[in-house]
Amino acid sequence: MYTTGVTPATGVWWKPAHRAEKIWFTLAFAWCMVLFAMMPFWHFKGGQNPSGIRSRVDPTAYRTRVEQFIADYQVGTDGGIPVVAPPAGSDIYLVGQMWMWRPVLQLEAGAEYTLHLSSLDVNHGFNLYPFNVNFQVVPGYDYALRITPTEAGDFRILCNEFCGVGHHLMLGKVMVVGGATAGATTAGATPAQPATGGDR
Ligand code: CUA
Repeated sequence: MYTTGVTPATGVWWKPAHRAEKIWFTLAFAWCMVLFAMMPFWHFKGGQNPSGIRSRVDPTAYRTRVEQFIADYQVGTDGGIPVVAPPAGSDIYLVGQMWMWRPVLQLEAGAEYTLHLSSLDVNHGFNLYPFNVNFQVVPGYDYALRITPTEAGDFRILCNEFCGVGHHLMLGKVMVVGGATAGATTAGATPAQPATGGDR
C-alpha cells in the first residue's frame, strides 16, 4: 500500500528523539541564539556594526559627484590619483571600480566626516589596512558612514571582495594628518548614528 499525507504509514515509523540528540539540538540552538544576540550587542559595545546611511544612487550620478568633490578640494596627485583634502565635517566621497579607488583622501585627525562609498561596476570591499574595518561597496547604492580618524598616518584601502583579475592590485590610500601621535590611540570608524535617510 502506498502512503500519502492523508493515509499514514503503518507500523512504527517514528521514534522519539534519543536523549543525546535532544542535548545536541539544545546546545546548537542555544549557540545560534548567542551568535544572533551578539550582532546587535556589538552595535552598542565596542563601536562595531555601525549603522550606515543608505540610499540608492545611479553609478553615473555618483561618478559625477565624486569628480565634483575632487574638483572642489584637490591638493595634488599620488601615483596619478588625485589627492583630496576636504574640510572637516564635510561629506567625502570614495569610489571603487575595477581596479582602483578614487580619490586619495587626506583627512584631519579628530575631525568628523561622512564617508560615502559606492562602486561603478561590481561589488568591491572597503578594508582599511591595518585596521579591522570592513564595508561592502555596492554599485547602485551610496553607503555613508560617520567617521572620525583618530590616528595620524598613511593607511591603505584593500579591496577584500573578489572583483576580477586585477582584484589583488586594487589598493587605495587614506592619509590622516595632525591630531594624536601615531600609536597613541586606535583608529577606525566610530559608531555612527542610526540611519537617518534613504531606503534600506
Ligand atoms: Cu575590487 Cu576586489
